[in-house]
Amino acid sequence: MPTVAQFFLCGLLAVSARGQDYDGSPRDEDAFSYVQPENTTILGPYGHSPPVFPSPHATGSGGWEEAFAQAQDFVAQLTPEEKADMVTGQFGPCVGNIVAIPRLNFGGLCLQDGPLAIRVADYASVFPAGVAAASTWDRKILYERGFAMGEEFKAKGAHVALAPVAGPLGRSAYSGRNWEGFAADPYLTGVAMEETIRGFQDAGVQATAKHFVGNEQETQRNPTYDPDGTVTDVLQEAVSSNIDDRTMHELYLWPFANAARARVASVMCSYQRLNGSYACENSKILNGLLKQELGFQGYVMSDWGGTHSGVASIEGGLDMNMPGGIGAYGQDPKAGSFFGGNVTRAVSNGTLPESRLDDMILRIMTPYFWLGQDRDYPTIDPSSADLNTFSPRSEWLREFNLTGPRSRDVRGDHASLIRRHGAEATVLLKNKNNALPLRAPKTIAVFGNDAAENTNGPVNQDTFEFGTLAAGGGSGTGRFTYLVSPLAALNARARRDGTSLVQYWLNNKQVATSSVSDLLGVPTQPEACLVFLKTWAAEGEDRAHLDSDYSGNEVVASVAKTCNNTIVVTHSSGINTLPFANHPNVTAILAAHYPGQESGNSIVDVLYGDVNPSGRLPYTIARNGSDYNAPPTTEVTTNGKYDWQSWFDEKLEIDYRYFDAHNIPVLYEFGFGLSYTKFNISNVRAERVVQAIPSTPERLPVQPGGNPALWETLYNVSVSVTNTGPVHGATVPQLYVTFPDSTPSGTPPKQLRGFEKVALEPGESRVVSFALARRDLSYWDVVSQEWVVPEGEFTLRVGFSSRDLREVVRVTLVE
Ligand code: BGC
Repeated sequence: MPTVAQFFLCGLLAVSARGQDYDGSPRDEDAFSYVQPENTTILGPYGHSPPVFPSPHATGSGGWEEAFAQAQDFVAQLTPEEKADMVTGQFGPCVGNIVAIPRLNFGGLCLQDGPLAIRVADYASVFPAGVAAASTWDRKILYERGFAMGEEFKAKGAHVALAPVAGPLGRSAYSGRNWEGFAADPYLTGVAMEETIRGFQDAGVQATAKHFVGNEQETQRNPTYDPDGTVTDVLQEAVSSNIDDRTMHELYLWPFANAARARVASVMCSYQRLNGSYACENSKILNGLLKQELGFQGYVMSDWGGTHSGVASIEGGLDMNMPGGIGAYGQDPKAGSFFGGNVTRAVSNGTLPESRLDDMILRIMTPYFWLGQDRDYPTIDPSSADLNTFSPRSEWLREFNLTGPRSRDVRGDHASLIRRHGAEATVLLKNKNNALPLRAPKTIAVFGNDAAENTNGPVNQDTFEFGTLAAGGGSGTGRFTYLVSPLAALNARARRDGTSLVQYWLNNKQVATSSVSDLLGVPTQPEACLVFLKTWAAEGEDRAHLDSDYSGNEVVASVAKTCNNTIVVTHSSGINTLPFANHPNVTAILAAHYPGQESGNSIVDVLYGDVNPSGRLPYTIARNGSDYNAPPTTEVTTNGKYDWQSWFDEKLEIDYRYFDAHNIPVLYEFGFGLSYTKFNISNVRAERVVQAIPSTPERLPVQPGGNPALWETLYNVSVSVTNTGPVHGATVPQLYVTFPDSTPSGTPPKQLRGFEKVALEPGESRVVSFALARRDLSYWDVVSQEWVVPEGEFTLRVGFSSRDLREVVRVTLVE
């Protein structure tokens, strides 16, 4: 815990509403009266940083001016009741709903999950999860995926996609939702956010950057409600993520700056508390960081049931209350709303300025007009309403006009794209003696409960013993119309080649406890033994361990005892410990993550070399599970209302930043991945783009993404990359920056600040360049509250992973 002096230096974040320290939900049935909790000191110094009021009003600047004017016309015509409707969700056909105002030709808003598919829908595709998409390290794929998903959301009549995810960022290897997001690194996640958001929005759908911010664990993400009390009676408040100012800027806020820059329509505030105050009413993060510093012009919507007050939240920066009701997950609309009629009342009695309510609606309607959603937008597919178990028709309080064709097939030709993306996302971690690609083997033996058909139906809402895993659970999952299993794809390939005999053992218990030599029972040894392992993760719970599920390690050990060409494929939410990695008979390991509906085809394409693997790890695989720092806070031993605290004491040291800072050897480092060919890097050059580089940026008017001076390129670094091997392939040169010694302590030894996917024919070379923006070469100075380029020499290294850096160049920006 920091000392009081450190706290003041760090400029920690505000927790107040209306200028008072305030921590939590209303104390009585009137959503608009709240009292200060009796004991706020328990929060320590994190509970007392300055409030940021009033909530900055949107102006539409940065390209939304015309749409903003349309939104102004719209708002001018609204009655007080209509205004309240515009900011308050209602139960209806979609996961979130804003009701129509037919007299103004406004058809309402349909908000649907999620980050890898339109979840509540039939005849829609399931794409690779965020962690898989990030593993491609390919900007083009990230954009294509966002665009293709956007096409499906739009065709189903969804205006707003509740995606993509930058929180969790991946502070802890154990967090249950890391797979929904991208990488345990703000730079890679930032690029992925930007590309995905542009993809969605170019397809005409509003994107939602979520969960803002510090949502790094699932345990106690929401309050514990009193089962015997009313829906707002809280026994213990949600966990508080306590984050210092520098860490906030350089890690957790960073990708949201990219999102704002990409003109994201919406930001979803997260469930947990942030430095003592609920994220959805934290004026420092919503008014201060997001709307002021990052110039965000869209709207802040609450996570489902993440609203804990009315006026306090509105003044704190919340613009839309979802799904609208009160209680856990907002699941009880009949219990009333913190918004709704209370908003109208607060305006009429003078508690809430009408200008703020108008600002909320302007923020909601500007992206709607900007994306042309007022013109010929598809109707909501009525089948989505039937599939929506969150708010079944019986619970709707308002009318929804559901006309239009039912059960539309919106998948288009996305299957081939998903297959390609899944293959490109696969990370080859080990390939001893060129075990891969397979060369038309005559006999293959397949092991593991992840290899074959899913046995428990199409919706991934629970883990199950038998069947391949291609998505995680919770609101970030998808509803498969089909799922190609590895075994089915291997069999199809064998038939095509006319060569392979595929035999399989799918029961992990049997394989783990039997002699595989007895199981094989054939005179010919299989040429390859493929083992498919899976690891489940889901919203609402953190992972209990980092091993593969269902005794995966024992399955590998058993197979490898007999088979000297054991090839392991993991379908996983992300980090797995791989105790078998150095086993001499384990010749190859592939991390395929959650690849989506074409899973089997994607992996077979890589196994047989139709696709040369070029995925790279978006996190570190440590030698031991216990090597990871920053575990989730899983329990408190006291029962005080505010006792759930998670101190982000590791500060900037997450994932490779931590392992590097402490010289901890790892199994496979961040950025690592093999190919069937070889690459070389040479000829690094750094070219200064602007002559004079003052240490602080010019203070330009803030645009979406923050001060535009932060995005200005200061240096261009280039390298020559050559394919020195025998086959076509792609690689990912990566640029890591080591800051000068003058940078304040706690600066990680190196940080990713550039990458590019480059495909090359054998013998081909290409020059790849990385533009380093001012933000990339600055640290956040907590005293001056500014990004500062430090004095002294920067070391810029380029290589093929965070621990395989081959070229180096040193530059001094500020003397
Ligand atoms: C999740 C959000 C999701 C929402 C609606 C919440 O529980 O945290 O990510 O968009 O539910 O399903």
